[in-house]
Amino acid sequence: MTATAVATRPRTSKQLTLEVVDVIEQTPFIKSFAFADPHGEQLPGFVPGSHIVVESGAKANAYSLTGSGQNPAAYTISVARAPTGAGGSAAMHKISIGDTVSVSHPRSAFAPVATARHHLLIAAGIGITPILSHARAAREWGRSSSLIYSYRPDAGAHIEEVRAVSGTGLTECTDRKSFRKALNKALLNQPMGTYVYVCGPAEFMSTVLLQAKDHGWPAERLHSEPFAAADQDPGRPFRVELTRSGKSLIVPAGQSLLETLEAAGTAIPNMCRQGVCGECAIPVLKGRVEHRDLYLTAEEKAANDTAMCCVSRAQDQELELDL
Ligand code: FES
Repeated sequence: MTATAVATRPRTSKQLTLEVVDVIEQTPFIKSFAFADPHGEQLPGFVPGSHIVVESGAKANAYSLTGSGQNPAAYTISVARAPTGAGGSAAMHKISIGDTVSVSHPRSAFAPVATARHHLLIAAGIGITPILSHARAAREWGRSSSLIYSYRPDAGAHIEEVRAVSGTGLTECTDRKSFRKALNKALLNQPMGTYVYVCGPAEFMSTVLLQAKDHGWPAERLHSEPFAAADQDPGRPFRVELTRSGKSLIVPAGQSLLETLEAAGTAIPNMCRQGVCGECAIPVLKGRVEHRDLYLTAEEKAANDTAMCCVSRAQDQELELDL
């Protein structure tokens, strides 16, 4: 998972100041980083599949943690350098041992299902990071799991760790044909109560999810972790009433609620502006939110009392906000 911000914001209690204690070159384009407490304190634990938001200069990006989440002495992430250098990945690749970074507490919308009888893990490229977290946790907790890992020849990030963790449950694919074959076989031969967890590029994930649906897998047993909120349609205009300030604003199609609030002089803390970090949460009093973020859980979305205003909009013509 990764997302890009356009602005920094004041420190909050959600942030931890950590030291870079290890940097490993996984492939020519992917580096791993380990962050630890400068005083040696243990870090907050997390559920498998969690991510943290790392501030790097004027950017903030969300990255999946690769550890299992149990008693972490360090948080480890991997960063693929974007060819354009966009998204802050180039800045992240310049980080060195001894540097200090500001990171958020871990957060997950991609946790394993406790009642699953088997966990079928599927990853491509840098998508291995949250899947490795799941695989490690499955091994530690004695949960049944298997993993299909698709990567370009000689560019398999974390491959030795994945092999060590998954053992005979691992299928490695370095071309599309072998992946399609392995996926088909896996989707047709799973015990009842199996859940699928997939992470990778958008096209890869939609291929896996579509194929699973074609094979009759129910949607609730398919879990995916996008790198960031997908490109969204511009949506319809809607009105927001700010009850504290008395402002009434129109959010036009193609402009986010966050941008509209900012233009009207209402500053909202934010980092990623892509629906992943949770910084731009605003309180909703009335009206149904069209949630488009990857931060809130299904239960939190159903409660309809909070909106991530960088991506979310209104289902109705109007929202009333406690601002
Ligand atoms: S700014 Fe990150 S979720 Fe909105």
